[in-house]
Amino acid sequence: MTIAKGDKLPDASFKRFGADGMIDVSSPDLFAGRKVVVFAVPGAFTPTCHEQHLPGFVQHAADLKAKGVDAVVCVAVNDPFVLKAWGDASNLNDAVTLLSDGNGTFTKAIGMDIDLAGPFLGVRSKRYAMIVDDGVVSEIMVEDNPGAVASSGAEQVLAKL
Ligand code: BEZ
Repeated sequence: MTIAKGDKLPDASFKRFGADGMIDVSSPDLFAGRKVVVFAVPGAFTPTCHEQHLPGFVQHAADLKAKGVDAVVCVAVNDPFVLKAWGDASNLNDAVTLLSDGNGTFTKAIGMDIDLAGPFLGVRSKRYAMIVDDGVVSEIMVEDNPGAVASSGAEQVLAKL
């Protein structure tokens, strides 16, 4: 199944690092009663993700929150330790939460997995952004080219709010 506008997200669990170590994040914790912007990247530290996609959401986090967004999260099929290092290197200022979907369970469940064996990344996530209201997808933008940000950037998400 490929997730689409109007669908409810499946239950899932993620991991993230907080001040005291690794934390489990469940989808009800994340989505229940909240408006959440989820964007996903093929990989931490890859050029487009590191230089364009993530910085755009950090830069526009206050604008997103001014339009009613409770949280901005970034999902990647990377292990939690890599995501911690990416966060440490990215001046997040608590604007964006990096969520590890290390086994790709959530990504596969919503049909957003992509085989990036060519550039030696293995199975990862497509690049996309979605607006999620109380666990239901109200907008989703998926990139045809995982190496580019054309429809899934912070400015495009802002225009949909
Ligand atoms: C990137 O620059 O984000 C990227 C590189 C290779 C494959 C997918 C994405």
